[in-house]
Amino acid sequence: MSLFEVKDKMDALVKELNQHNYNYYVLAMPTIADYTFDQKLAELHALELAHPEFADPNSPTQKVGGEITKTFTTVKHKWPMLSLGNTYNEQDLRDFDERIKKAIGDHFEYVCELKFDGLSISLTYDGSKLVRAVTRGDGTKGDDVTTNIKTIHTIPHQLKADDVPPLFEIRGEIFMHRAAFERLNKEREEIGEVQYANPRNFAAGTVKMQDSGEVAKRPLDCFLYSLNTDKNYFKTHWESLQNLKKWGFNICEHTKLSPNINEVLLFIKHWEKERFNLSYDIDGIVIKVNSFAQQQELGFTAKSPRWAISYKYKAEEVETILEKVTYQVGRTGAVTPVANLKPVQLAGTTVKRATLHNANEIERLDLHLGDSVFVEKGGEIIPKIINVNLDKREPGAVPVIYPSVCPECNTPLIRKEGEVAFYCPNDEACPPQIVGKIQHFISRKAMNIDGLGDETVETFYQRGLIAHISDLYTLHEKAEDLKTLERFGEKSIVNMLKGIELSKQMPFEKVLFGLGIRYVGETVARKLTFGAKNIDNLVSASLEELTSIDEIGQRIAESIIEYFSKPEHLHQITLLKSYGLQFEAIENEITLQSDKLTGKTFVISGVFENYSREELKNMIESNGGKILSGISAKLNYLVAGDNMGPSKLEKANKLNVPLISEDDLLELLK
Ligand code: IVH
Repeated sequence: MSLFEVKDKMDALVKELNQHNYNYYVLAMPTIADYTFDQKLAELHALELAHPEFADPNSPTQKVGGEITKTFTTVKHKWPMLSLGNTYNEQDLRDFDERIKKAIGDHFEYVCELKFDGLSISLTYDGSKLVRAVTRGDGTKGDDVTTNIKTIHTIPHQLKADDVPPLFEIRGEIFMHRAAFERLNKEREEIGEVQYANPRNFAAGTVKMQDSGEVAKRPLDCFLYSLNTDKNYFKTHWESLQNLKKWGFNICEHTKLSPNINEVLLFIKHWEKERFNLSYDIDGIVIKVNSFAQQQELGFTAKSPRWAISYKYKAEEVETILEKVTYQVGRTGAVTPVANLKPVQLAGTTVKRATLHNANEIERLDLHLGDSVFVEKGGEIIPKIINVNLDKREPGAVPVIYPSVCPECNTPLIRKEGEVAFYCPNDEACPPQIVGKIQHFISRKAMNIDGLGDETVETFYQRGLIAHISDLYTLHEKAEDLKTLERFGEKSIVNMLKGIELSKQMPFEKVLFGLGIRYVGETVARKLTFGAKNIDNLVSASLEELTSIDEIGQRIAESIIEYFSKPEHLHQITLLKSYGLQFEAIENEITLQSDKLTGKTFVISGVFENYSREELKNMIESNGGKILSGISAKLNYLVAGDNMGPSKLEKANKLNVPLISEDDLLELLK
């Protein structure tokens, strides 16, 4: 290849792979096999190594905290990872049952399991030690993701039981609980990152990250559902599951032994409704013949076992009318289209709005106003439009056109290269951006200002009382104006002003996060605080200096430089400094905020709605409490989230340790 051809090839690969990433992560509609994607990515990576001069900073190989497969070792599966035949109705299942009866007679049982909506994983244990974790890949070979999988708390690294086979493989599904998904996705939204469409995609993206430190921050979980060994240790699948549980594996408690197909159908019916009360997504039920001898007799087709089948639930779907499309301008200026629908009942809630993600989605659906659209709310939390019923489109219907100017301030929108969202660049005067930035600044994870909420910020802005973050710190001079506001009594004003005053004590990393610099989330703010020590160093840092800080890549560094290149931002910082906010790192960060928890011990377990485990730990420690590693009679509190391990729960109950929620903990701190 000539140099020109090399460059063209690299550019084409970057473009193609970025599009595939978008299809996969945002639309949740991949159009390419994972394996082919990985090969193309490896090809691009090799070209970049050979020709660094042509490497594009936006290359999918370079994503910071990236969701991209880069350089995992490919491992051949000892037993191929097959798929399952799918059924969608009772008749299909009865046909499956008949086929089995024909082959092995009437004497058999089924095991019914939930079909977890995640990604399958194969774990190898050698001498009771977890030695390898491999993704399904193309079924024959997959990626070695052992380091990432080792961050999952429910997967044992070392088995304690003495009756485990010397070498075995166990398979299961990696997934993310909905609560964790919502929390992390919200955090991504807050720092202007593209959001994931559903927990499955988030889990899949996480498993394939390069940095296992980053993986550890995204709580994944795993249910195990099958054992492979060279010789038979057990007679039935059910018996093997009981033993897996005993060896310390996380086996779903809802698995059930069923004597016949009618019982299976009842199980399916029960979970069709009940699935929405689980803390994780399932997309169906898996039915397996219990006896291993009978499984062997039934054998396999080329793609799947004859002794198992899945029953897939239909994602609940309804048809309704698209009344209009509105556009929300976020704090970062990203303009997100939202479908406003004629209200309709779906999966137990009234749906009035559906996400349209971005301009590409409007184009894909070829939406027209008044269209009759199919809306789905499957495992996913936010309803979305699947497609349009073209038969019902009125002649002359007006196509929905994504605006070219900001719906709030009329500034022409821009789209940065390699990104899917359009932005309003008018960050200094576009109202929702200003309000959003102030709301972000006061939020719990940033300055945590008591007595001031999102709605109040909105009102203050509309009344001309605040237009910048720094204006919060002169509000005390406007006490008379504040008193004229409805529902804003003397007491709330005093509370709010006290909250604002107290926020001056918040550490630099919180202030930095609160400024709302694109891509500077909580973790990045902490790393920058540690690396740069103070705001002046940060403002004057070069690209090289920034990227030499731990975990700061090109994209974040560029965003920081761009932020500090704006005189208005520097002016704000000067004002905030003059009001006494913290712009210097405090050495030895853990300073006690209070001694409310002194002498009290805690264990944190499970997945939480509002905070990560790390945040809860910091909260406890910075108020004098102590974190213990295990449950004992001495323990004062078990902070319990969703899907806590059953053994922990049992032990806590036995020892009479009080269980508290994250809200109870906040209450203790009040
Ligand atoms: S057993 C021969 N059990 O569904 C395949 N699979 O459609 C044996 N899955 O690749 C798989 N929950 O990723 C089995 N309880 C369960 C499952 C389950 C989810 C996934 C798995 C598999 C896919 C097949």
